[in-house]
Amino acid sequence: MKTAVRHQQFSLRPGGALRGTISVPGDKSISHRAVMLAAIAQGTSKIRNWLAAGDTEATLGAMRDLGARIKRHDASNLTIEGGPLRPAPGPLNLKNAGTGIRLLAGIMAGQPFASVLDGSEQLRRRPMRRITEPLQLLGADIQATDGCCPLTIRPAPLKGARYDMPVASGQVKSALLLAGLFADSPTTVIQPGPARDHTERMLRAMGAKIIEEDEAGNCLTVHPTARLEPLDITVPGDLSSAAFLLVAGLLVPGSDLTITGVNLNPTRTGLLDALQEMGADFAISNQSTQAGEPVGDIQVKSSALSGVEIGGETVVRMIDEFPILMAAATQAEGETIVRDARELRVKETDRIAVMAGELRKLGAVIDEREDGFRIVGPQRLAGGQADGHDDHRIAMSLTIAGLIAAEGAIVTDAACAADSFPGFAETLIGCGALLLPE
Ligand code: S3P
Repeated sequence: MKTAVRHQQFSLRPGGALRGTISVPGDKSISHRAVMLAAIAQGTSKIRNWLAAGDTEATLGAMRDLGARIKRHDASNLTIEGGPLRPAPGPLNLKNAGTGIRLLAGIMAGQPFASVLDGSEQLRRRPMRRITEPLQLLGADIQATDGCCPLTIRPAPLKGARYDMPVASGQVKSALLLAGLFADSPTTVIQPGPARDHTERMLRAMGAKIIEEDEAGNCLTVHPTARLEPLDITVPGDLSSAAFLLVAGLLVPGSDLTITGVNLNPTRTGLLDALQEMGADFAISNQSTQAGEPVGDIQVKSSALSGVEIGGETVVRMIDEFPILMAAATQAEGETIVRDARELRVKETDRIAVMAGELRKLGAVIDEREDGFRIVGPQRLAGGQADGHDDHRIAMSLTIAGLIAAEGAIVTDAACAADSFPGFAETLIGCGALLLPE
């Protein structure tokens, strides 16, 4: 099977206008959920356009270790025969995948056997109490290691509970909804803002009962469900991957790019709202529904941008897009201010500090704040060398910034781009970017 090349670094030169019609790989969040839920469904699931990338392969490997029978027709087309899981031969290695470990913890809490969930050094630094504490409230026997992974889970009966989430998080909400499937009575989760709802959409399509208790959909009750129907889906393109191309199209002069089949789930489209407010020239067409999610094509043209203020609910709807928004903000006329985005500090890296530090190496001036940042533009990025810090979204955002650096740029530690966007460099080159992968 063909696996994507992991390039160690990217060299960028300014000037190559981006043109053409392209697609992006399948949505990462949906791909994680699809393999986990297919593995516990009763029957054979068919999953097309699955994201074959570092993070999701880790989840797939874990589900295989747990006994799921997975047939790969090619890298992105899978058939999974679900059924009861069985004990894994050793600790499950979720590598860098925060979504993988947190969602799987919810499923494992409901299993009649013990498990250990672990990952890379990077994953071992990320906070896990946000899932262990509420899962314990449901009766789970789950222990973290100094608040991080490895997580040790032993069998324990789960009882329905009510949990008010302190932060809006798709991963925490999903872990609880998944554990709630195995509880003795309904579980209610209350989120402070609209975190991504892919788990709810997929579970409902598989026959689970999830009730919205309020109009905004922020209070959800999941009922225990003994039987999940198998999936038959084509995963939509990932808006979080499209975001890099979208911003590249806006920033690189002379660009006119169309990205087809992109997921437009409203819990994910905060960046589009922000870019629209900034004056970005883009249009959405061909809207339809795919895998229970709204999808469409996005056409983008180079645009003069102006600054924007972002805070409150929009933050959770664009949580993974702040690194690329930072790159865009350096080119926007006036002030861009982001607030309420403290969560960025506990992603694969501290994305506020790391992105500010690396953009400064390319010549940007960035005012870092505890819960966000302030950038006044437009700024001239001279160029230089910046480092991806083994964080896919940092590496790809710096690459786009490098494309508009006056003297060119080199982005090192960039192999992590393949954690979510295999073929990132090749896609950009195909559109005309002056990018040399090494
Ligand atoms: C994700 C939720 C978000 C996001 C992550 C994927 C998911 O994390 O940043 O990339 O698939 O549920 P949080 O739940 O920590 O906000």
